[in-house]
Amino acid sequence: MTISVCAESSQSTSTQSDWVERGKKVLMQTYATQPMVLSEGKGSYVRDVDGKDYLDFASGIAVNALGHCHPAYVEALTQQLSKLSHCSNLYYNQPAIELAEKLVANSAFDRAFFCNSGAEAIEGALKLSRKYAKKNKGENCTKILTMSNSFHGRTYGALSATAQTKYQEGYHPLVPDVSVVEFNNIDSILAHNLAEVAAIIVEPVQGEGGVHLADIGFLKKVRALCDEHKIVLIFDEIQCGVGRSGSFFASDNFALAPDVVALAKGLGGGFPIGAILAKESIACAFNPGDHGSTFGGNPLAATAALACVSIIRDQQFLGSVKTKSELLLAELVDLKSKCPSIKAIRGLGLMLGIEFDIPVKPIIQKCAAEGLLLVGAGENVIRLLPPLTVSDDEINEAIGILAKVIASQ
Ligand SMILES: Cc1ncc(COP(=O)(O)O)c(C=O)c1O
Repeated sequence: MTISVCAESSQSTSTQSDWVERGKKVLMQTYATQPMVLSEGKGSYVRDVDGKDYLDFASGIAVNALGHCHPAYVEALTQQLSKLSHCSNLYYNQPAIELAEKLVANSAFDRAFFCNSGAEAIEGALKLSRKYAKKNKGENCTKILTMSNSFHGRTYGALSATAQTKYQEGYHPLVPDVSVVEFNNIDSILAHNLAEVAAIIVEPVQGEGGVHLADIGFLKKVRALCDEHKIVLIFDEIQCGVGRSGSFFASDNFALAPDVVALAKGLGGGFPIGAILAKESIACAFNPGDHGSTFGGNPLAATAALACVSIIRDQQFLGSVKTKSELLLAELVDLKSKCPSIKAIRGLGLMLGIEFDIPVKPIIQKCAAEGLLLVGAGENVIRLLPPLTVSDDEINEAIGILAKVIASQ
């Protein structure tokens, strides 16, 4: 494999380990960062500063939906950068309007709010739900129900709605009135006084929690309960949305729609942007001054997202994601039949998880050494999140590396 556009790599006398040492000194140590420094990429491959190439099945944790340096993406951003990068929300900008139009067209949603990350999209969705509930159900209707094992982000509201205590340790008191219900168990929701519930938040496919799918029957019942009790149903599609599931919205796979959907990650394809899309009846709970973000939907971010959405929200493109998913899934099922340490394969589209009965960190590290980037989800699950543009050959190459590494365990 060669990264053709990378032929003129920036010349630096520092090695990767020099950079890692420098980074360790000055960056807050909040991440379990691998001792790797990536400097460029093309398509499904990235290269580190020492010149080693990797097949990127991490995609920046489900972000690089179009791979690296997709020509249409680079062209759109380059042009916009030389026109207008930012103007604030004191004024409209064309890319943001076009992006909102594209996102709500042929969808269950009517309006968009743009922000800069997934956690911010969740904050917006939670705030919108409480505003709506207070106006429509009464002052005391503030409760938010979240699913066991969920992950919604690191800001206070999103963290409070994240039902994994390891992320919350040291940060109490959290935002009040958030209760955890059991994922895929409708009785767990029915145990609450639904008159007090403002919102129910669900990831249709849990990512950080280990790649677990919501049951269609569960989601249908949740949808019906939300309709009956005027509860805002929020889907967190930050990881599983924007084509990753093989449909533009993950909810399309379940033949139902939430009232509000939170998007980020693949929406910007590498440029930071988040969004909430809402039905008119909910969106109108926000009035001028109720919520905002200086950078939200700035022309540059909106242009990046417009480039991604224009390519991804195309039936042929989404069809190819499904085809690639079938190939990858078949290869993984075959791998499972040969590897007793693999317990399960699950997921949707190009968001697939391999559950092992052993810790996966050493496997991920060895795969990186062999030139394949993967992501963990907890102790025992590896996530495969290739670019949506991944080729059959690249899938076969990834499986080859994975099989070799597992066999060497
Ligand atoms: C489902 C889900 N929600 C929210 C977030 C938070 O997004 P961000 O890291 O952009 O704040 C993530 C990030 O991994 C996620 O996977």
